[in-house]
Amino acid sequence: MKLNKFVDQLPIMNTLQPLERDIHGSYYEVSMEEFRQKLHRDLRPTRVWGYNRQFPGPTFDVNQGEQIQVKWMNHLPEKHILPVDKSFHHLAHLPEVRTVVHLHGSETKPESDGYPEAWYTRNFKETGPVFKKEIYEYPNRQRPATLWYHDHAMGITRLNVYSGLSGMYIIRNEQEKRRNLPEGKYEVPLMIQDRSFNEDGSLFYPQGPDDAGDNLPHPSIVPAFNGDTILVNGKVWPYFEVEPRKYRFRILNASNTRGYQLSLESKEPFYQIGSDGGLLRKTVKLNQLSLEPAERADVIIDFQGHPGENLILKNDLGPDADPDDETDEIMQFRVSADASEKDSSTLPKNLSHIPSLKQNNIHAIRNLKLAGSEDEYGRPLLLLDNKKWVDPVSEKPRLGTTEIWSFTNITGFAHPIHIHLVQFQVLDRQPFDLDQYNKDGSIIFTGPTTAPNLNERGWKDTITAPSAQITRVIAHFAPYTGDYVWHCHILEHEDYDMMRPFRVVDENEEKS
Ligand code: C2O
Ligand code: CU
Ligand code: CU
Repeated sequence: MKLNKFVDQLPIMNTLQPLERDIHGSYYEVSMEEFRQKLHRDLRPTRVWGYNRQFPGPTFDVNQGEQIQVKWMNHLPEKHILPVDKSFHHLAHLPEVRTVVHLHGSETKPESDGYPEAWYTRNFKETGPVFKKEIYEYPNRQRPATLWYHDHAMGITRLNVYSGLSGMYIIRNEQEKRRNLPEGKYEVPLMIQDRSFNEDGSLFYPQGPDDAGDNLPHPSIVPAFNGDTILVNGKVWPYFEVEPRKYRFRILNASNTRGYQLSLESKEPFYQIGSDGGLLRKTVKLNQLSLEPAERADVIIDFQGHPGENLILKNDLGPDADPDDETDEIMQFRVSADASEKDSSTLPKNLSHIPSLKQNNIHAIRNLKLAGSEDEYGRPLLLLDNKKWVDPVSEKPRLGTTEIWSFTNITGFAHPIHIHLVQFQVLDRQPFDLDQYNKDGSIIFTGPTTAPNLNERGWKDTITAPSAQITRVIAHFAPYTGDYVWHCHILEHEDYDMMRPFRVVDENEEKS
């Protein structure tokens, strides 16, 4: 289906208002529903799922230290809008539509973290084996950052998020407000996603692999899915009218599988000021910005030198790209001739203080493999440390201690690895000989360790672990004990079976 680019205006998600607000905090209600929404001028309204009848969902805008409660109400139908593979995780025995919301990047107690098995169905009728909670609490004690919320239900996260269940969540504080960064209408969230459409305007998601043999289950999960159409804030290839001045964009890759290599036409740079967990130490000037699924980049773009021009936000598909692939463009900025007011915002060089976790005592080093295998149908089955989701908990960091997690990627492609509860720091990466590893299991390094990229030297919750490299991160496990998860954020991998539980334990528990 051929859709014209840059014919629809970029929508900005509404900010969610609390139903009640008192000294203890704010109370919100959000309902998950099925509805139709116009995603492009020439598409008939598409059946999607969203929060409060919006795709993407409304944006939370909260202050640091402001505790909030959210009642996440499932009002979805009992039948999914996408093909559900029920051949794994005993999904055949579970209700087809189930949801649970995770606030990605947040420091939240386990019972409010959206544990995959804490799912529930329409009107909270049926619940998964753990937690059984519909009202979640977010303390918002962490530093200001761009977080996002999305569905996390066991085995169908890829389908629920693809259907539309994601939204932005911004934490602010006074200190950051005093930085005089572009704000108000000059501060804009950009949620980038890829989708494919059927002729009738409905969402397309594969029933199974293209080369599926008859022996596969129907529908059958695919190991990766890239849509052929790019949406920003729920519109296909939109345009955005800007003034010739500085803007702050909070960019999120909320795609299932697709990573982006963003750049601006006219070689205008990005000034990245923040990563997943908030402001960096120093502003980083970038001509190209890479964003794997779930990663966020807080950037300033200065349109001052381009009055009256149109600039396209591009996506570099690499030298081997198919010339018909249209995903090399994301959106268009239309710069007006004049600014409506003087731009008094600043672009600071130094941004924030980030203590290095390297100074801490290291309580444990965990060597964890990202590995591939096959299931009984011959389908790829990706695993963390060769364990499945159902295997017993093996990672039990002690509350308040610091650990190094070392990800050895022996698969042929990169995985964006995400750990719940914490914001971590990246130590380094080191390449090794994968052929040698495949022959005899030995790790022979082929180069020195490399420091993280400049824009990875802040707080991260999701990190690219490239093929044939060891990627090391360091994390302080606090402030809560209990059950969390870590996983690859390619949703097709996460669902099957690249996700593992981990448990933060207190001292006594650890001994037992
Ligand atoms: Cu954004 Cu566990 O995920
Ligand atoms: Cu998360
Ligand atoms: Cu992966």
